[in-house]
Amino acid sequence: MRTVKIGIIGGGLMGREMASAFARWCALSDMTVRPELVSVADLSEAALAWFAAIPSCTQRTTDYHAMLSNPEVEVVYVAVPHHLHEQVYADVLRAGKDLFAEKPFGIDLDSARRILGHVHSSGRFVRCSSEMPFFPGAQRALAEARSGRCGRILQVVSAFHHSSDLDPKKAANWKRLNRTCGEIGVLGDLGMHACHIPLRLGWKPTSLYAQLQRGYPQRPDGKGGMTACDTWDNATLHAWAPIQGEPTPLRLEMKRLAPGATNSWFLEVLGTDGGVRFSTAEPKTLWIFERGAEQWWKRTELGFSTAFKTVTGGIFEPGFPDVIQQMWAAYLAERAGELGDRFGCATPEEAVASHEIFAAALASEQTQSVIRIGA
Ligand SMILES: NC(=O)c1ccc[n+]([C@@H]2O[C@H](COP(=O)([O-])OP(=O)(O)OC[C@H]3O[C@@H](n4cnc5c(N)ncnc54)[C@H](O)[C@@H]3O)[C@@H](O)[C@H]2O)c1
Repeated sequence: MRTVKIGIIGGGLMGREMASAFARWCALSDMTVRPELVSVADLSEAALAWFAAIPSCTQRTTDYHAMLSNPEVEVVYVAVPHHLHEQVYADVLRAGKDLFAEKPFGIDLDSARRILGHVHSSGRFVRCSSEMPFFPGAQRALAEARSGRCGRILQVVSAFHHSSDLDPKKAANWKRLNRTCGEIGVLGDLGMHACHIPLRLGWKPTSLYAQLQRGYPQRPDGKGGMTACDTWDNATLHAWAPIQGEPTPLRLEMKRLAPGATNSWFLEVLGTDGGVRFSTAEPKTLWIFERGAEQWWKRTELGFSTAFKTVTGGIFEPGFPDVIQQMWAAYLAERAGELGDRFGCATPEEAVASHEIFAAALASEQTQSVIRIGA
């Protein structure tokens, strides 16, 4: 087992999630590489204090440049607000480290393209975080979509819904402000999740019409006052994408105001002969449509059939921490040249392609018209 020494910049929600995935790496049974967290950087002393529970994490710093000059660190995972992505990613690459970058990979399309330039000029191994396709059900849905059993594909829906913003009393954070989240708002927050599988299948929209909705204009600021919130909270993109050589309806949905949903990633592909449906709301259930003498929706109980084998019993249910760990297994296996035919993490090119979709969505909202992409 070869050890890869990791640094984390941004020890908030996602920084801690990744650290805990490393800490239970013993759950994976067929890996030849193992991540070891050796360094964390965050401006907040309280955030850094949490990492004191991880014995290998001996460097805890408020200055991420100190981590970047640490020769031990080989791979840096960055999870900071979107307005900081470009600067921090460029600094990581200039320091000669490999990068696992959080989505959306820059605050807007121009920023994402500049980051891609840094990726190419540095020659480092870079991938973008998007874990939901690592659910076994998502992988089965992908395989079904590729199988040809659907016949002519008639429509695709790829969606990510949560309801974090329904409560008007919830305090604002950087994700509710254009300055720090980006003008793209929820598109940047949830869009990579919805775009990852369609883009991997080559189903990149050629045109789209966007319906964007804002949430509450003001929220508590967490200090007793109120603050303005200006981001888009819900986005429904009605797109045409080339599927099997035919223009096909593809609906991409990203919602922070989805009543009833906590963190539901959803994919549905419907064709003339078959179809498939998977939602993380039912994490071990796969629905497959078949047209025969009658029409059937068949429900399969999948269990824990992850791409990277684990000690977890095959009858158990997969969850968010499991797919985070599977995504890291894919990152480290691909970096080591051992991914094989397994699904790989989102590429920098896919991240830029997702930004092209988000930029078109903003243009569509502004002009209330259909926007061509790549024309
Ligand atoms: N893949 C996913 O499912 C998923 C889920 C949530 C968020 N994210 C992404 O992760 C990133 C971070 O989101 P989060 O929810 O963890 O945010 P968060 O606010 O919980 O954490 C961000 C951390 O970055 C730190 N930080 C800010 N400026 C810094 C600097 N200059 N140097 C070092 N640390 C700094 C903050 O102190 C904070 O602890 C974003 O890109 C977001 O889109 C991904």
